[in-house]
Amino acid sequence: MTTITEPAPAKLNLALHVRARRADGYHELETVFAFVRDGDVLTVTPAAEPSFEIDGPFGRHLSPGDDNLVSRARVAFERHIATLPTFAIRLTKNLPVASGIGGGSADAAAMLRACARIAGVAANDPRLFAIAADLGSDIPACLDGRATIGRGRGERLQPLAGLSSRPVLLVNPGVAVSTRDVFARWDGIDRGPLPDDPLAGRNDLTAAAMAVAPVIGDVIAALDASGTATFVRMSGSGATCFALFDNDIDRDLAAQSIQSDHPDWWCLATRLA
Ligand code: C5P
Repeated sequence: MTTITEPAPAKLNLALHVRARRADGYHELETVFAFVRDGDVLTVTPAAEPSFEIDGPFGRHLSPGDDNLVSRARVAFERHIATLPTFAIRLTKNLPVASGIGGGSADAAAMLRACARIAGVAANDPRLFAIAADLGSDIPACLDGRATIGRGRGERLQPLAGLSSRPVLLVNPGVAVSTRDVFARWDGIDRGPLPDDPLAGRNDLTAAAMAVAPVIGDVIAALDASGTATFVRMSGSGATCFALFDNDIDRDLAAQSIQSDHPDWWCLATRLA
Protein backbone atom coordinates (compact mmCIF):
# COMPACT_ATOMS: atom_id res chain seq x y z
CA MET A 1 0.00 0.00 0.00
CA THR A 2 1.27 3.50 -0.87
CA THR A 3 -0.01 6.91 0.22
CA ILE A 4 -3.44 7.62 -1.21
CA THR A 5 -4.89 11.10 -1.62
CA GLU A 6 -8.63 11.35 -2.24
CA PRO A 7 -10.32 14.67 -2.94
CA ALA A 8 -13.64 15.24 -1.15
CA PRO A 9 -15.24 17.98 -3.24
CA ALA A 10 -18.13 20.15 -2.09
CA LYS A 11 -21.61 19.08 -3.20
CA LEU A 12 -24.26 21.50 -4.38
CA ASN A 13 -27.98 20.93 -4.78
CA LEU A 14 -28.87 22.86 -7.93
CA ALA A 15 -32.47 21.99 -7.06
CA LEU A 16 -34.00 20.24 -4.07
CA HIS A 17 -37.68 19.38 -4.27
CA VAL A 18 -39.16 17.90 -1.11
CA ARG A 19 -42.12 15.78 -2.14
CA ALA A 20 -43.32 13.99 1.02
CA ARG A 21 -42.55 13.18 4.62
CA ARG A 22 -42.04 9.42 5.00
CA ALA A 23 -43.09 7.09 7.80
CA ASP A 24 -39.39 6.44 8.62
CA GLY A 25 -38.83 10.14 9.41
CA TYR A 26 -36.92 10.88 6.18
CA HIS A 27 -38.28 12.90 3.27
CA GLU A 28 -38.87 11.82 -0.29
CA LEU A 29 -36.70 14.06 -2.49
CA GLU A 30 -36.02 14.94 -6.09
CA THR A 31 -32.71 16.74 -6.20
CA VAL A 32 -30.02 17.77 -8.68
CA PHE A 33 -26.56 17.05 -7.29
CA ALA A 34 -23.51 18.76 -8.73
CA PHE A 35 -19.92 18.95 -7.49
CA VAL A 36 -17.28 21.65 -7.60
CA ARG A 37 -13.54 21.37 -8.18
CA ASP A 38 -12.52 22.16 -4.59
CA GLY A 39 -13.19 20.71 -1.18
CA ASP A 40 -11.69 18.71 1.66
CA VAL A 41 -8.74 16.36 1.09
CA LEU A 42 -8.28 12.93 2.67
CA THR A 43 -4.83 11.33 2.83
CA VAL A 44 -4.23 7.74 3.88
CA THR A 45 -0.66 6.62 4.63
CA PRO A 46 0.61 3.17 5.64
CA ALA A 47 1.51 3.16 9.36
CA ALA A 48 2.33 0.69 12.12
CA GLU A 49 -0.44 2.17 14.33
CA PRO A 50 -3.82 3.52 13.18
CA SER A 51 -4.31 7.25 13.66
CA PHE A 52 -6.66 10.02 12.52
CA GLU A 53 -5.79 13.72 12.43
CA ILE A 54 -7.85 16.64 11.20
CA ASP A 55 -6.28 19.91 10.05
CA GLY A 56 -7.23 22.72 7.68
CA PRO A 57 -9.18 25.97 8.21
CA PHE A 58 -12.30 24.22 9.61
CA GLY A 59 -10.49 21.34 11.33
CA ARG A 60 -11.11 22.71 14.82
CA HIS A 61 -14.89 22.23 14.37
CA LEU A 62 -14.61 18.45 14.15
CA SER A 63 -13.25 15.72 16.35
CA PRO A 64 -11.50 12.67 14.90
CA GLY A 65 -13.43 10.22 17.11
CA ASP A 66 -15.27 7.00 16.35
CA ASP A 67 -18.49 8.87 15.53
CA ASN A 68 -16.80 10.89 12.77
CA LEU A 69 -18.25 9.79 9.41
CA VAL A 70 -14.72 9.04 8.15
CA SER A 71 -14.14 6.58 11.01
CA ARG A 72 -17.60 5.07 10.52
CA ALA A 73 -16.95 4.61 6.78
CA ARG A 74 -13.75 2.71 7.48
CA VAL A 75 -15.42 0.48 10.11
CA ALA A 76 -18.36 -0.25 7.77
CA PHE A 77 -15.99 -1.11 4.90
CA GLU A 78 -14.09 -3.60 7.06
CA ARG A 79 -17.30 -5.11 8.41
CA HIS A 80 -18.99 -5.59 5.05
CA ILE A 81 -16.25 -5.87 2.42
CA ALA A 82 -12.67 -6.59 3.51
CA THR A 83 -10.16 -6.14 6.31
CA LEU A 84 -7.51 -3.49 5.71
CA PRO A 85 -3.91 -2.92 6.77
CA THR A 86 -3.33 -0.27 9.48
CA PHE A 87 -2.97 3.28 8.21
CA ALA A 88 -2.84 6.90 9.29
CA ILE A 89 -5.66 9.18 8.14
CA ARG A 90 -5.31 12.93 7.65
CA LEU A 91 -8.38 14.98 6.80
CA THR A 92 -7.77 18.53 5.64
CA LYS A 93 -11.03 20.31 6.33
CA ASN A 94 -11.37 23.19 3.88
CA LEU A 95 -15.18 23.25 3.88
CA PRO A 96 -17.35 24.70 6.65
CA VAL A 97 -19.18 22.02 8.67
CA ALA A 98 -22.99 21.65 8.82
CA SER A 99 -23.29 23.97 5.85
CA GLY A 100 -25.37 22.24 3.15
CA ILE A 101 -22.47 21.37 0.86
CA GLY A 102 -21.97 17.82 2.03
CA GLY A 103 -18.57 18.16 3.65
CA GLY A 104 -18.99 15.23 6.04
CA SER A 105 -20.65 13.16 3.31
CA ALA A 106 -17.83 13.94 0.88
CA ASP A 107 -15.25 12.96 3.51
CA ALA A 108 -17.00 9.63 4.16
CA ALA A 109 -17.22 8.96 0.41
CA ALA A 110 -13.50 9.76 0.03
CA MET A 111 -12.73 7.28 2.84
CA LEU A 112 -14.79 4.58 1.10
CA ARG A 113 -12.96 5.27 -2.19
CA ALA A 114 -9.60 5.05 -0.40
CA CYS A 115 -10.58 1.77 1.32
CA ALA A 116 -11.70 0.38 -2.05
CA ARG A 117 -8.39 1.31 -3.66
CA ILE A 118 -6.40 -0.30 -0.83
CA ALA A 119 -8.47 -3.51 -0.97
CA GLY A 120 -8.55 -3.67 -4.78
CA VAL A 121 -12.35 -3.24 -4.88
CA ALA A 122 -13.88 -1.55 -7.94
CA ALA A 123 -15.05 2.04 -7.38
CA ASN A 124 -18.50 1.16 -8.71
CA ASP A 125 -18.97 -1.94 -6.51
CA PRO A 126 -22.63 -1.93 -5.38
CA ARG A 127 -21.56 -2.90 -1.85
CA LEU A 128 -19.81 0.49 -1.52
CA PHE A 129 -23.03 2.27 -2.47
CA ALA A 130 -25.02 0.18 0.02
CA ILE A 131 -22.62 1.18 2.82
CA ALA A 132 -22.75 4.81 1.64
CA ALA A 133 -26.57 4.91 1.76
CA ASP A 134 -26.53 3.40 5.22
CA LEU A 135 -24.10 6.08 6.48
CA GLY A 136 -26.01 9.10 5.12
CA SER A 137 -28.46 10.24 2.47
CA ASP A 138 -25.94 12.31 0.43
CA ILE A 139 -23.04 9.85 0.62
CA PRO A 140 -23.98 7.74 -2.46
CA ALA A 141 -24.07 10.93 -4.56
CA CYS A 142 -20.67 11.96 -3.16
CA LEU A 143 -19.29 8.48 -3.88
CA ASP A 144 -20.49 8.76 -7.48
CA GLY A 145 -19.03 12.27 -7.67
CA ARG A 146 -20.72 13.31 -10.92
CA ALA A 147 -23.77 15.49 -11.53
CA THR A 148 -26.83 13.32 -10.94
CA ILE A 149 -30.53 13.47 -10.21
CA GLY A 150 -31.19 11.94 -6.79
CA ARG A 151 -34.49 10.41 -5.72
CA GLY A 152 -35.73 8.56 -2.64
CA ARG A 153 -33.76 9.90 0.35
CA GLY A 154 -31.28 11.10 -2.30
CA GLU A 155 -29.61 7.71 -2.76
CA ARG A 156 -31.28 6.63 -6.03
CA LEU A 157 -29.06 8.23 -8.68
CA GLN A 158 -29.35 8.93 -12.37
CA PRO A 159 -26.49 10.64 -14.29
CA LEU A 160 -27.04 14.14 -15.64
CA ALA A 161 -24.83 15.61 -18.39
CA GLY A 162 -24.13 19.16 -19.50
CA LEU A 163 -23.46 21.11 -16.32
CA SER A 164 -19.68 20.89 -16.00
CA SER A 165 -17.12 23.69 -15.69
CA ARG A 166 -19.47 26.64 -15.06
CA PRO A 167 -17.93 29.31 -12.79
CA VAL A 168 -19.56 29.22 -9.36
CA LEU A 169 -19.22 31.17 -6.11
CA LEU A 170 -20.13 29.57 -2.77
CA VAL A 171 -20.83 31.81 0.23
CA ASN A 172 -21.42 30.73 3.83
CA PRO A 173 -22.24 33.23 6.59
CA GLY A 174 -20.57 31.20 9.35
CA VAL A 175 -23.74 29.80 10.93
CA ALA A 176 -23.91 26.01 11.31
CA VAL A 177 -27.37 24.70 10.44
CA SER A 178 -28.72 21.28 11.47
CA THR A 179 -30.17 19.35 8.51
CA ARG A 180 -32.58 17.60 10.84
CA ASP A 181 -33.91 20.93 12.23
CA VAL A 182 -34.46 22.34 8.75
CA PHE A 183 -36.31 19.26 7.47
CA ALA A 184 -38.44 19.33 10.63
CA ARG A 185 -39.58 22.86 9.69
CA TRP A 186 -40.57 21.96 6.12
CA ASP A 187 -44.20 23.06 5.69
CA GLY A 188 -45.37 19.73 4.23
CA ILE A 189 -46.53 21.26 0.94
CA ASP A 190 -45.55 19.28 -2.17
CA ARG A 191 -44.75 21.94 -4.78
CA GLY A 192 -44.27 19.48 -7.61
CA PRO A 193 -41.58 17.48 -9.41
CA LEU A 194 -38.28 18.56 -10.95
CA PRO A 195 -38.67 20.23 -14.33
CA ASP A 196 -36.62 18.95 -17.30
CA ASP A 197 -34.25 21.93 -16.98
CA PRO A 198 -32.28 21.29 -13.76
CA LEU A 199 -31.71 25.02 -13.32
CA ALA A 200 -35.45 25.76 -13.41
CA GLY A 201 -36.16 23.96 -10.14
CA ARG A 202 -36.38 25.18 -6.54
CA ASN A 203 -34.87 24.55 -3.14
CA ASP A 204 -37.94 23.73 -1.03
CA LEU A 205 -35.92 23.97 2.20
CA THR A 206 -35.04 27.66 1.75
CA ALA A 207 -37.89 29.09 3.87
CA ALA A 208 -37.33 26.50 6.61
CA ALA A 209 -33.58 27.21 6.68
CA MET A 210 -34.18 30.97 6.77
CA ALA A 211 -36.42 30.46 9.81
CA VAL A 212 -33.46 28.76 11.54
CA ALA A 213 -30.80 31.17 10.19
CA PRO A 214 -32.27 34.46 8.87
CA VAL A 215 -28.80 35.56 7.66
CA ILE A 216 -29.33 33.20 4.69
CA GLY A 217 -31.57 35.93 3.25
CA ASP A 218 -28.63 38.35 3.41
CA VAL A 219 -26.37 35.87 1.60
CA ILE A 220 -28.88 35.41 -1.23
CA ALA A 221 -29.32 39.20 -1.44
CA ALA A 222 -25.54 39.72 -1.59
CA LEU A 223 -25.18 37.20 -4.44
CA ASP A 224 -28.14 38.76 -6.28
CA ALA A 225 -26.58 42.21 -5.82
CA SER A 226 -23.62 41.19 -7.99
CA GLY A 227 -25.92 41.84 -10.95
CA THR A 228 -23.98 39.28 -13.00
CA ALA A 229 -25.04 35.99 -11.38
CA THR A 230 -27.16 33.92 -13.76
CA PHE A 231 -28.51 31.74 -10.95
CA VAL A 232 -28.61 32.12 -7.15
CA ARG A 233 -29.74 29.42 -4.74
CA MET A 234 -29.25 27.88 -1.30
CA SER A 235 -27.62 24.43 -1.25
CA GLY A 236 -29.08 21.51 0.71
CA SER A 237 -30.43 22.59 4.09
CA GLY A 238 -28.16 25.70 4.11
CA ALA A 239 -26.65 27.93 5.15
CA THR A 240 -24.29 27.92 2.13
CA CYS A 241 -25.70 29.65 -0.94
CA PHE A 242 -24.15 29.77 -4.38
CA ALA A 243 -24.33 31.58 -7.69
CA LEU A 244 -23.41 30.58 -11.23
CA PHE A 245 -21.69 33.08 -13.54
CA ASP A 246 -20.94 33.25 -17.25
CA ASN A 247 -17.22 33.84 -16.65
CA ASP A 248 -14.52 33.79 -13.96
CA ILE A 249 -14.08 37.58 -13.96
CA ASP A 250 -17.70 38.29 -12.97
CA ARG A 251 -17.48 35.55 -10.33
CA ASP A 252 -14.24 36.94 -8.87
CA LEU A 253 -15.58 40.52 -8.82
CA ALA A 254 -18.67 39.29 -6.95
CA ALA A 255 -16.44 37.39 -4.50
CA GLN A 256 -14.27 40.48 -3.86
CA SER A 257 -17.28 42.68 -3.24
CA ILE A 258 -18.95 40.19 -0.86
CA GLN A 259 -15.69 39.60 1.04
CA SER A 260 -15.11 43.32 1.50
CA ASP A 261 -18.67 43.87 2.79
CA HIS A 262 -18.64 40.69 4.93
CA PRO A 263 -15.05 39.80 5.88
CA ASP A 264 -16.30 37.09 8.27
CA TRP A 265 -18.22 35.18 5.57
CA TRP A 266 -16.57 32.22 3.82
CA CYS A 267 -16.33 32.45 0.02
CA LEU A 268 -15.11 29.81 -2.44
CA ALA A 269 -14.65 30.85 -6.06
CA THR A 270 -14.48 27.68 -8.15
CA ARG A 271 -16.11 25.87 -11.07
CA LEU A 272 -18.54 23.01 -11.34
CA ALA A 273 -16.64 19.74 -11.72
O1 C5P B 1 -29.18 10.84 6.04
P1 C5P B 1 -28.57 11.87 6.92
O2 C5P B 1 -28.11 11.30 8.23
O3 C5P B 1 -27.48 12.66 6.26
O4 C5P B 1 -29.72 12.91 7.23
C1 C5P B 1 -29.64 13.83 8.29
C2 C5P B 1 -31.04 14.24 8.70
O5 C5P B 1 -31.66 14.97 7.63
C3 C5P B 1 -31.97 13.07 8.95
O6 C5P B 1 -31.90 12.66 10.29
C4 C5P B 1 -33.33 13.64 8.63
O7 C5P B 1 -33.82 14.39 9.72
C5 C5P B 1 -33.03 14.64 7.52
N1 C5P B 1 -33.28 14.09 6.16
C6 C5P B 1 -34.59 13.87 5.76
N2 C5P B 1 -34.84 13.39 4.50
C7 C5P B 1 -33.82 13.14 3.64
C8 C5P B 1 -32.48 13.36 4.03
C9 C5P B 1 -32.24 13.84 5.31
O8 C5P B 1 -35.52 14.12 6.51
N3 C5P B 1 -34.11 12.68 2.43
